[in-house]
Amino acid sequence: MGAALQVSDSLVDELVAADCVVLGTPIYNFGMPAQLKAYFDQVVRVGRTFAFAPGDAEPYRPLLASKPVIVVTAAGDGSMHPGGALYHLNYLEPHLLTVLGFIGLTDTTFVRVGYDEFQDDRLKRSLSAAERTIDELATAMSRKFAENSTAERITSRN
Ligand SMILES: Cc1cc2nc3c(=O)[nH]c(=O)nc-3n(C[C@H](O)[C@H](O)[C@H](O)COP(=O)(O)O)c2cc1C
Repeated sequence: MGAALQVSDSLVDELVAADCVVLGTPIYNFGMPAQLKAYFDQVVRVGRTFAFAPGDAEPYRPLLASKPVIVVTAAGDGSMHPGGALYHLNYLEPHLLTVLGFIGLTDTTFVRVGYDEFQDDRLKRSLSAAERTIDELATAMSRKFAENSTAERITSRN
C-alpha cells in the first residue's frame, strides 16, 4: 500500500510546498485530457488535501492553503472560451474550478489560447494576448512574493 501511494505522496508534497501552481492544458473532447485527470486523481487525497467527516452536515473540507493557480489553456476552437458561442460545451474550466476548489485552491486565473485548429489571425491574436497576460501575471506575482519575503524578514527580526 505504501509503495502504491509513493507517486501520490510526492505529488501532494509538491503541491503543499508550492508558492503557486501553473498548469498547462488543452481542451480535449470538451474536458480535460486523461493525463491531467490522472494527476488530480493522485492529488485529491483524503486526509492530505481534503478532510472527510461522514457524520458532519458538511462532510468535505479543503486542506490546502490558498495559493495562486495559473491555468494556461489551449482550444482548437476559441469559441469554446468564455463569451464564445460554444462556451456551453466547455466542461474543462468548470471541472478544474470544482476540483481545485475542493482541495482549497480557489485563486485560479485562466490564460486562454484559442483557434489552434483554424491557424488564422484569431490564433495569432490570442497567442499575443496570452503572452502579454503571462508577463503581467509573472511581474505581479514576483512583486507579491518579494513583498511577502520582506514582510517575513521584518516579522522574524521583531
Ligand atoms: C483528442 C483531441 C480532442 C480535442 N477536443 C477539442 C475540443 O473539444 N474543443 C476544442 O476547442 N479543441 C479540441 N481539440 C483541439 C485542441 O484543444 C488544440 O488543438 C490544442 O491546442 C492541442 O494542444 P496539444 O498540442 O497540447 O495537444 C482537441 C484535440 C485533440 C487531439
